[in-house]
Amino acid sequence: MIPCPCGSFVNFSIMNKKKVLFVCLGNICRSPLAEAIFKHKVASRNLTDFFDIDSCGTSNYHIGDIPDPRTFAIATKHGIKMDHIVRQFTIEDLEGYDYIFAMDENNFKNIVKLSINEIHKGKVFLMREFDSQGKGKEVPDPYWGKETEFQEVFDILNRSIDGFLDQLAGSRQQ
Ligand code: 4NP
Repeated sequence: MIPCPCGSFVNFSIMNKKKVLFVCLGNICRSPLAEAIFKHKVASRNLTDFFDIDSCGTSNYHIGDIPDPRTFAIATKHGIKMDHIVRQFTIEDLEGYDYIFAMDENNFKNIVKLSINEIHKGKVFLMREFDSQGKGKEVPDPYWGKETEFQEVFDILNRSIDGFLDQLAGSRQQ
């Protein structure tokens, strides 16, 4: 049994490996930060082997780039490493992933538009559905904003990922 983020104990060892994908527009700000936070949280709980984790963008604007320097800066400030090369979302992701987290309504709509069945649609969530503060809102796009907006995005993602991991752990306990 392994301590889960919610503070109780969950038998993750009997859980099938979960494939988790974070999606934003450019894949240089929000989604690679979410990917890095998620990886950090599961690694610190020795749960890395139970997850496949990636991120991508709905646009082709930055394919092959590394994340924005401000994304690296906020991750580093919180002791989180990032290692990501931008890629674009594809239809295959709807088949291959179990949980697809869209950062905002536009990303959500663009992902759902590519889905070909109800199983695909059921995998797509707004990231902030799991946020204890501001459930169902969007993760704001910080690209055109100031450094402080990257801190706000970090806080939102941190809470939302905790919320998701708590829910996942809770579902395993039933
Ligand atoms: P992201 O932010 O979707 O959080 O990576 C953006 C990055 C780039 C652009 C827009 C949003 N862009 O227009 O290039």
